[in-house]
Amino acid sequence: MNMFNKRTKIREIISKQESQTGITVMGWVRSFRNNQFIALNDGSTNTNIQVVATLGNFPDELIKRITTSASLRVYGDLVPSLGKGQALELVATEIEILGDSDAEKYPLQPKKHSLEFLREIAHLRFRTNTFGAIFRIRHSLAFAVHKFYNERGFVYLHTPIITASDAEGAGEMFRVSTLPLENPPRDEDGKIDFKEDFFGKATNLTVSGQLEGELGATAFGEIYTFGPTFRAENSNTARHLAEFWMIEPEMAFCDIEDNQNLAEEFIQYLIKYAMENCADDLAFLDQRLAEEEKQKPTNERQEFGLIEKLKFVTDSKFERITYTEAIAILLDSPAYKKKKFKYDVSWGIDMQSEHERYLVEKHFKKPVIVTGYPAAIKAFYMRLNDGCEPGKQTVAAMDILAPGIGEIVGGSQREERLDKLVARMEEMHIPTHEMSWYLDTRRFGTVPHAGFGLGFERMVQFVTGMGNIRDVIAFARTPKNCEF
Ligand code: 4AD
Ligand code: MG
Repeated sequence: MNMFNKRTKIREIISKQESQTGITVMGWVRSFRNNQFIALNDGSTNTNIQVVATLGNFPDELIKRITTSASLRVYGDLVPSLGKGQALELVATEIEILGDSDAEKYPLQPKKHSLEFLREIAHLRFRTNTFGAIFRIRHSLAFAVHKFYNERGFVYLHTPIITASDAEGAGEMFRVSTLPLENPPRDEDGKIDFKEDFFGKATNLTVSGQLEGELGATAFGEIYTFGPTFRAENSNTARHLAEFWMIEPEMAFCDIEDNQNLAEEFIQYLIKYAMENCADDLAFLDQRLAEEEKQKPTNERQEFGLIEKLKFVTDSKFERITYTEAIAILLDSPAYKKKKFKYDVSWGIDMQSEHERYLVEKHFKKPVIVTGYPAAIKAFYMRLNDGCEPGKQTVAAMDILAPGIGEIVGGSQREERLDKLVARMEEMHIPTHEMSWYLDTRRFGTVPHAGFGLGFERMVQFVTGMGNIRDVIAFARTPKNCEF
């Protein structure tokens, strides 16, 4: 019989709170006090179990090997604890060291480490309370994504990671090639000849599964993707990754308003799911954030605690405004009048994060959905709005801006009219002949359809309250950084 199948997870012990004889627990030592009390953690929860190694019952040789981060198998009885801090404790009858650990060399010392330092030892940071909480919440949110769409009859479509197209048309792609870098084959014009490459053409890592998603939606009605996407944008910020996960639902028979409704419902659903299923981990992070806030000067502190903020967002309707209204609010703001913005404001600008944050954090103090952006700053596939003023052509785009994050969702109704789409692509120099497969959906039974992309890490940041996106993905990929 396999001994590992018989282990009880600490989470289960904590939730049951019942005495029990003859149970097995396995985990890593967090601390060892008075040669007698072991705080053992198995990663199922931040709560440690107190293991009692009664003095005299175990050989000194074994006791010496119970060091921080050593892994143990403990067999014993779960009984009411006499000590403070826990209701139950595990009185050990057997202790086996599964793996020794040199506590002096172990990088996680029993003190508070900075998040920056923990990023350098990201291979071990899962073993801290903070990262334990973050990654269990991340897991729950990922599970809730599938639950949400499954309950609504969406088909989960796995779109390709390697593609030959640039969905966003922004040219921020990582090339995928097996050609020799030092001496690639060249064509008659001296350009690299991708006909010789692995796929017989130039290929890259996907920036979005949307285009393939549209092919699915115009057959299944409603699909979603949930996968990694890659952007070679040189943005070294607390909200950008070169490799991030995105959820992209795409719906046929759907307009920009239905799209907004779904996105709002989706975000609120994810938050509620985390609040119901990760209450202890959220309480831990709420406390952590409160302590971090205390270190800041009073005028820089956030108005809400983490859990308060999450409750507020699930209980209130998101504000909905047009881009034109957003620009008017900015132009009318004290921040603009006092020249507090670094970047200028006028109709037509691609709003900078300082503008988005002003709208969300100062003006509305809640999530805001902005629609009707200028066509000139948005992707080719977005539906042109009819009846715009000359020189002010807008598209049926929507961005959702969240407090503390900025843009968390980007989406649109798609241009389903073949002639308009082709004209727009030509105007933007997108090769229509290579995208014939995409245009076929508009040729054969085109329908109004819409969709959006939710940046998964930004969502995890929002729910956990973590300020830096590098702390909500296991191993961050950012400019000049690809460790682990
Ligand atoms: O606004 P974006 O670029 O939209 C698209 O990719 C569309 N194809 C989505 C669609 O309509 N199906 O990206 C969508 C979201 C952003 O709102 C943001 O949350 C996230 O993806 N995102 C990033 N997250 C982390 N690091 C980056 N470099 C990101 N770029 C975008
Ligand atoms: Mg966007």
